[in-house]
Amino acid sequence: MDTSALKKELIELVAAANDMTALENVRVTALGKKGRITDLMKNLGTMSPDDRKTAGAELNVLKDEIADLIEKQALQLKKQELDARLASEQLDVTLSTRPNRKGSIHPISQTMDELVTIFAEMGFSVAEGPDIEDDFHNFTALNFPLGHPAREMHDTFYLPNDERETGESQKKLLRTHTSTVQIRHMMNNKPPCKIICMGRVYRSDWDMTHTPVFHQMEGLVIDKSTHMGHLKGCLMDFVRNYFEIDDLPVRFRPSFFPFTEPGAEMDIGCSRKDGGLKIGAGDSWLEILGCGMVHPNVIANCGLDPNEYQGFAFGMGVERIAMLKYGIPDLRSFFESDTRWLSHYGSDPLNRPNRATK
Ligand code: DAH
Repeated sequence: MDTSALKKELIELVAAANDMTALENVRVTALGKKGRITDLMKNLGTMSPDDRKTAGAELNVLKDEIADLIEKQALQLKKQELDARLASEQLDVTLSTRPNRKGSIHPISQTMDELVTIFAEMGFSVAEGPDIEDDFHNFTALNFPLGHPAREMHDTFYLPNDERETGESQKKLLRTHTSTVQIRHMMNNKPPCKIICMGRVYRSDWDMTHTPVFHQMEGLVIDKSTHMGHLKGCLMDFVRNYFEIDDLPVRFRPSFFPFTEPGAEMDIGCSRKDGGLKIGAGDSWLEILGCGMVHPNVIANCGLDPNEYQGFAFGMGVERIAMLKYGIPDLRSFFESDTRWLSHYGSDPLNRPNRATK
């Protein structure tokens, strides 16, 4: 049997296969169930034992050679395909941007940038804490005793119990407020403290004015002599800068938070006409944030002496103050990722957040 002509023919076919489909066809032609080499192998049975031995060995060598060639050709073709893709998908980063495809900064990011700018100019630094918290940092250390009704008001998302953590205060949860960072900061830093913290908070609630995740900003000032007057001055400066209204009226109403004593809510002046809301001097008030002097129990829970240290704290919803400044009507739209909404309410990425000091 002379296989050299067949070998030559198959080698040419493999070399001519210039894509994976053509190559697969060649494989079937040569080595498939009804392929040329397979056919010859089927004939071996009709030969004399001696001829079968030599022809069989020859066919096996041919089969291996052709299989080997096909494999090499496949590697070559895949490499060519990849090179072609890499060349065609190349991106020239030096090209100028397309005029109508401008991205924008989400109002939440914009608002948080503005908050950092304003408070940084007042000497605050930015602290952080984890979204997954435990009962101790979210409640107990903040002076919410076990069974206290204020705990129920937070609609907490609890995580499944970890068997190694048996104590109530180790129970894992998604933080319901950024006040947790007050605790983390006081436990890990020696006063004086002057920090803000921003981030996501979670509560199991969903309607026009509530979403299960939203953002808060927290502020904390602790030293030996900070008092309620400082709290008022600091927050007045803040709202007037943030809303860019120099004579924005404010008022403080007594309120209750387990972690403050005394506690207050701050309102800003506004007017409501024909269903519209305008921030500034007017005949109405709008609640804007919670605040107060840090409760001595909280200071003690963080390992500090409440006879030596005192200070104030405040907390507010980032979406809420963004809605008021940018006239956004529905809280839920913040989380819908609708590009039409984003291009309407988003900010120009090249704009700097408003300046804090005038
Ligand atoms: N943690 C409060 C809440 O989620 C907000 C708050 C109120 C924070 C008073 C404070 C504060 O630091 O002093 O409703």
